Amino acid sequence: MLTKKNLLFVCLSLFLVNTISAQTYKYIGADKCKMCHNKPATGEQYKKWLADPHSKALKTLSSQASLDYAKKNGIADPAKEAKCLKCHSTYEKAGAGLRGGILPEEGVSCESCHGAGSAFKSPTIMKNIEMAKANGLILPTKELCVTCHNKENPFHKEFNYEAFVAKIAHPNPAAKK
Ligand code: HEC
Ligand code: HEC
Ligand code: HEC
Ligand code: HEC
Repeated sequence: MLTKKNLLFVCLSLFLVNTISAQTYKYIGADKCKMCHNKPATGEQYKKWLADPHSKALKTLSSQASLDYAKKNGIADPAKEAKCLKCHSTYEKAGAGLRGGILPEEGVSCESCHGAGSAFKSPTIMKNIEMAKANGLILPTKELCVTCHNKENPFHKEFNYEAFVAKIAHPNPAAKK
């Protein structure tokens, strides 16, 4: 029977479930996005990302330029250095608690720009942009890019949003805009 006391309990539970899930979006990894976002008709975003430097950002930390910089600056291994990984690795950003399938080798992966996908990945939610956003989907703007594209990066190049976003574009040609 739904007494006043029961109702209060139900409301409180719903409130808790909502608050908890809002904090625990997990990083599911690019392979999960690939299942639905690699079709030529809708823009094969996964394939485009594989060709984009972000997907190679972890590998870069083992390049000669990284090793030279590390040697001069007393860093033992840039590929294991938190100071470098913070911008070169989505896996690192997820931290031990929020890794739901994401792999270190993904470098800067989909979810660094679009948000952790555990709650928005289901087809019913994804098809509804407002629902997807309410479940953690981000449509990135310049403000997000410059959290990494800034002078804290020892190899910083001047960031021009229009030019840079064009280089990594992966639009959906079928989308109604
Ligand atoms: C089960 C299939 C599925 C999965 C898994 C999935 N998506 Fe989607 N996504 C869709 C569909 C369907 C749409 C609606 C547009 C379309 O048809 O491509 C969409 C739309 C989007 C949009 C565009 C929203 C807009 O309207 O501008 C983004 C960004 C996006 N997905 C990112 C991701 C990312 C990142 C992942 C992985 C974390 C992911 N999706 C996983 C099916 C999926
Ligand atoms: C989580 C950190 C991060 C975010 C957020 C991010 N980037 Fe990057 N970006 C990088 C890293 C790291 C590289 C270097 C990849 C490599 O070569 O290893 C890079 C490289 C690039 C490059 C290639 C630069 C060149 O000199 O060829 C472009 C273009 C780019 N990013 C555009 C963007 C845009 C546009 C956004 C926002 C929509 C963005 N990035 C958001 C970390 C980030
Ligand atoms: C604040 C974020 C950030 C930090 C911290 C950072 N990087 Fe980067 N890194 C980037 C971005 C963004 C790029 C792409 C170049 C650009 O457009 O500025 C990049 C590019 C590079 C490149 C490629 C340069 C080229 O043009 O080929 C190397 C090598 C590199 N980073 C090594 C490192 C190392 C080693 C560390 C740690 C000591 C580090 N990065 C720390 C964001 C960062
Ligand atoms: C460096 C940041 C960055 C990364 C990494 C990235 N995206 Fe995007 N993505 C963007 C930007 C910027 C847009 C354009 C947003 C807009 O139209 O407002 C976009 C748009 C999209 C769209 C919508 C296309 C449309 O025209 O409706 C989809 C779908 C998408 N991304 C999926 C992915 C998937 C899947 C991955 C990984 C395989 C990925 N993205 C990786 C920055 C990124």
